[in-house]
Amino acid sequence: MEDTIVLYPSPGIGHLVSTVELGKLILTHQPSFSIIIFITDAPYNTGTTGPYISRVSATCPSITFHHLPTISPPPKFTFFEDLAFEVPRLNNPNVHQALQTISQKSKLKAFIIDFFCNASFEVSTSLNIPTYYFYTSGAFVLTIFFYLPTIDKTTTGIKDLSYVEVPGAPPLSPSAFPEVFLHRNSVGYKNFVDTANNMAKSSGIITNTFESLEPRAVKAISEGKCITNGPTPPVYYIGPLIASNAKTNAKSGSEDECLTWLNSQPSQSVVFLCFGSNGVFIEEQLKEMAVGLENSGNRFLWVVRSPPTNDKASSTSSEPDLDALLPEGFLERTKDRGLVVKAWAPQLDVLSHDSVGGFVTHCGWNSVLEAVCSGVPMVTWPLYAEQRLNRVFLVEEMKVALPLDESEDGFVSSAELERRVRELMDSESGKAVRDQVKAMRDEARAALAENGSSRVALERLTESWKQG
Ligand SMILES: *[C@@H]1O[C@H](CO)[C@@H](O)[C@H](O)[C@H]1NC(C)=O
Ligand SMILES: *[C@@H]1O[C@H](CO)[C@@H](O)[C@H](O)[C@H]1NC(C)=O
Repeated sequence: MEDTIVLYPSPGIGHLVSTVELGKLILTHQPSFSIIIFITDAPYNTGTTGPYISRVSATCPSITFHHLPTISPPPKFTFFEDLAFEVPRLNNPNVHQALQTISQKSKLKAFIIDFFCNASFEVSTSLNIPTYYFYTSGAFVLTIFFYLPTIDKTTTGIKDLSYVEVPGAPPLSPSAFPEVFLHRNSVGYKNFVDTANNMAKSSGIITNTFESLEPRAVKAISEGKCITNGPTPPVYYIGPLIASNAKTNAKSGSEDECLTWLNSQPSQSVVFLCFGSNGVFIEEQLKEMAVGLENSGNRFLWVVRSPPTNDKASSTSSEPDLDALLPEGFLERTKDRGLVVKAWAPQLDVLSHDSVGGFVTHCGWNSVLEAVCSGVPMVTWPLYAEQRLNRVFLVEEMKVALPLDESEDGFVSSAELERRVRELMDSESGKAVRDQVKAMRDEARAALAENGSSRVALERLTESWKQG
């Protein structure tokens, strides 16, 4: 019987791509394994996955996809996170069935689930299948999740604290937390606490980071300081895991346009602004950004998406009308030193281009790792999820980014953007984060090389499956 690993990502192209990358990585160490990835539909916009799945199926025969039956859509939820936890819960009977069938035909060595698949933990452990979490954010955020049950037991809620103390992390303001964490009686908050408790009981946690990027957090976790009510499971820091070819809905036109333009720019001169597939701004903010960029005098490559509308379906697909959205004459006045592209850019190719010297980012963890691996220093502009926590860690601990001050409602003034872009590209503090991020780029390479910490961690993990 074949050794099999089953991976269960949350719905959506982003989760799927990193899960496939993890599958490929496992196969480089244990080529005889077979990898099965569960695919679920979701009642929210997850991006198009079909073409990507076809391509992977065609190029990696050891990876197969198992489509779980479609579930009936759950009722309305206040927070997106609640829905993300609810969909896997509704899928439990299907997951149970699928795992049983697979166990009959092969040796199921491990079930690796996404953070939001909390509910399926019960199913796989009842079938005695070793269950692991694939944790796609960094080690600092992991210290918080591990410590969450302790915070929950010892306080009246994160909202009531003036700052939150977590072993291995700097003091954190409650406002840095995802909003759902501040609502102690919400379903979402309970899901996070439950998931943290399950993670502590799992066979291990596979984390997309590398030890020398976040040494303080790694140390606190390994010393057992973050999980206070029992032993800490093995944590495998196997990153940086970066999807080299994650093009899923790319228009090759804008790809060529970006790279051709960058080829004509001086080395390390361009600031790249890009905010992920969900990062949208209201029109007023876009205009303000344009003014900031123009006044900075810097070269820039800026990815602009259409502002949010009430009609969700149309906002994600419609192309922005740049002439209407940006200040009058802006494109003409900056055409010699700036390029504005619509909706999408080949981010990793851009970041690794020699002309790019800075990155204004929403601090999504995949973007952070891509910047680190390319040695590009950052200016942090967090928007949602755990991004405000990442900002604290990037600025205060890893020291690879400069912060951007925003007003209470998240608005950033043109003067602030101008100031930080200038600081990043041309000042002592900018040089300090640039030197540090280049050192971390070299550390990342070392972690992935022979005998490097990430390589060794993955060997330890896959060897344990081989023997088990
Ligand atoms: C989280 O998962 C555990 C075990 O699978 C389950 O007992 C618990 O009810 C889940 N929590 C929520 C809020 O769904
Ligand atoms: C890796 O470690 C082994 C055993 O210690 C050693 O023989 C080998 O030379 C090392 N390889 C590199 C590239 O350092």
